[in-house]
Amino acid sequence: MADFTLTARQIVLRRMQAADAPVLYAYRSLPEVARYQDWLPHDIDEVQGLSRSQADVEPGTPGTWLQLIIVRREDGEVVGDCGILFPDGARASPELGIALRPDHRSRGYATCATRLMLAYLFDARKVHRVVARTDPRNLPSITVLQRLGMRQEAHLRRSHWHRDQWVDDMIFAMLAEEWERERKRLQAHCENGGV
Ligand SMILES: CC(C)(COP(=O)(O)OP(=O)(O)OC[C@H]1O[C@@H](n2cnc3c(N)ncnc32)[C@H](O)[C@@H]1OP(=O)(O)O)[C@@H](O)C(=O)NCCC(=O)NCCS
Repeated sequence: MADFTLTARQIVLRRMQAADAPVLYAYRSLPEVARYQDWLPHDIDEVQGLSRSQADVEPGTPGTWLQLIIVRREDGEVVGDCGILFPDGARASPELGIALRPDHRSRGYATCATRLMLAYLFDARKVHRVVARTDPRNLPSITVLQRLGMRQEAHLRRSHWHRDQWVDDMIFAMLAEEWERERKRLQAHCENGGV
C-alpha cells in the first residue's frame, strides 16, 4: 500500500488502518454524526472491511472513494474522517465528505481538513472543479463549506433518497480559478489561524 498523507500544523489526513475501526464505528454510529450521512455502518466488521478495501485504492481511481482518517498531530488521536469521491468519467468533479467525532468539533479541524483536500485536488491533481453535497438542515456542514469559499450552486427539492424518505440536497462547488483567488485567505485562516 502506497503511503498517503496530507499535513497541516495541527492535523494530518492519512489512510485508514484496521486499528481505526473501533473508534470509527463508535462515532459513526452516533445519531448526531449519522443523521445526514448516507453511510451508517451496521457493525464493526463493515468498517474493518472498508479499511481493507481502502488499502489498495489508488488515489484518483475513477469510481472510488479515497477515505482518510483525520488525526491530531500532537498525540495521534483520531478526530474524524473525510473522503474524496473520484466519480466515473475523466473530467467529472470530485466530491468531498467529512465527519468529526462530536468531542472534537468547533476547533476548526473540519475546515482545515476540507482545505487540505481542496489543496490536494487543485494543486496536486489539477482538477477543474470540486463539489460537496449537503442536506440544507446541516448548518455546521454548510458553514464549513461557505467559510472555505465554496459557492452554493443548487438547492434540489426532495431529490435524494435518505433513510426511507426524499430529502432536499444542496450542491456547493469551487472552480480552480476560485481556489487561486481564495488560496491566500484560506492559508491564513487555516494555518496561521492555528489549525
Ligand atoms: C459538519 C462537521 C464536520 C462540521 O464540524 P465543525 O466542528 O462545525 O467544523 P470545524 O471543525 O471546522 O470547526 C468550526 C468551528 O471552529 C472554530 N475555529 C477555531 N479555529 C478555527 C480555524 N483556525 N479555522 C476555522 N475554524 C476555526 C470556528 O469559529 C467554528 O466555531 P463554531 O463551531 O462556534 O461555529 C460536523 O458538524 C460533523 O461531523 N457533522 C456530522 C457529520 C456530517 O453531517 N457531515 C457533513 C456531511 S455533508
